[in-house]
Amino acid sequence: MGQIETERLIVRRFEQQDWQQLYEYLSDKEVIEFEPYDVFTEEQAKDEAIRRSSDPSFYAVCLKDSSRLIGNLYLGKGDFDTWELGYVFNGMYQGQGYAAESAKALMDYAFTHMGARRIVAMCSPKNVRSRKLLERLDMRLEGLLLQNVYFKTGSDGEPIWLDTCEYAMLKTEWCVRRGVTVS
Ligand SMILES: CC(C)(COP(=O)(O)OP(=O)(O)OC[C@H]1O[C@@H](n2cnc3c(N)ncnc32)[C@H](O)[C@@H]1OP(=O)(O)O)[C@@H](O)C(=O)NCCC(=O)NCCS
Repeated sequence: MGQIETERLIVRRFEQQDWQQLYEYLSDKEVIEFEPYDVFTEEQAKDEAIRRSSDPSFYAVCLKDSSRLIGNLYLGKGDFDTWELGYVFNGMYQGQGYAAESAKALMDYAFTHMGARRIVAMCSPKNVRSRKLLERLDMRLEGLLLQNVYFKTGSDGEPIWLDTCEYAMLKTEWCVRRGVTVS
């Protein structure tokens, strides 16, 4: 993939120089509230930018006008031509439709050029903004998994179990919505 261009955004591969703008949002406690990791230090953000620059599953989302990095998408390949979508955006650039605009373009690309048959996304039932985004992307709620995962342990060392909403879209559903013929 080269880069994907939308009305307001460029979706491209990560570069090592992105670390500072990556740090801006990965160091924000509110932004990473539902993520499996803790806030990043500057050193961790530098390493993460290097790691992402060679990981084809991570996509940097930048404003077309200024080239500013405002967030990232994730699209990782699993089995059976199923891909998992993820996203994290800088708080200053949420609530402006950027996540939906970039994710929609990446999903379109995955269905048309990457051989995706099914795209899934997981989020906490408490993550209202994420659920609204998935519904805006026309993804279908397939299930609510109870206590299926944990990211942290409590002071007693026991897992803090979390519930997960699982959303999905099939290529056939995407074709109907976009009005294109299934290939
Ligand atoms: C989840 C997340 C990506 C959603 O981002 P978002 O900016 O709310 O999502 P969208 O791009 O769909 O933006 C929609 C909002 O922009 C508003 N908006 C403003 N201008 C707009 C425009 N020109 N076009 C479209 N929407 C616009 C919409 O009205 C909507 O606002 P609302 O949610 O208050 O109704 C973001 O909250 C985030 O990064 N959270 C932290 C990380 C996280 O939790 N990731 C998911 C883990 S599962």
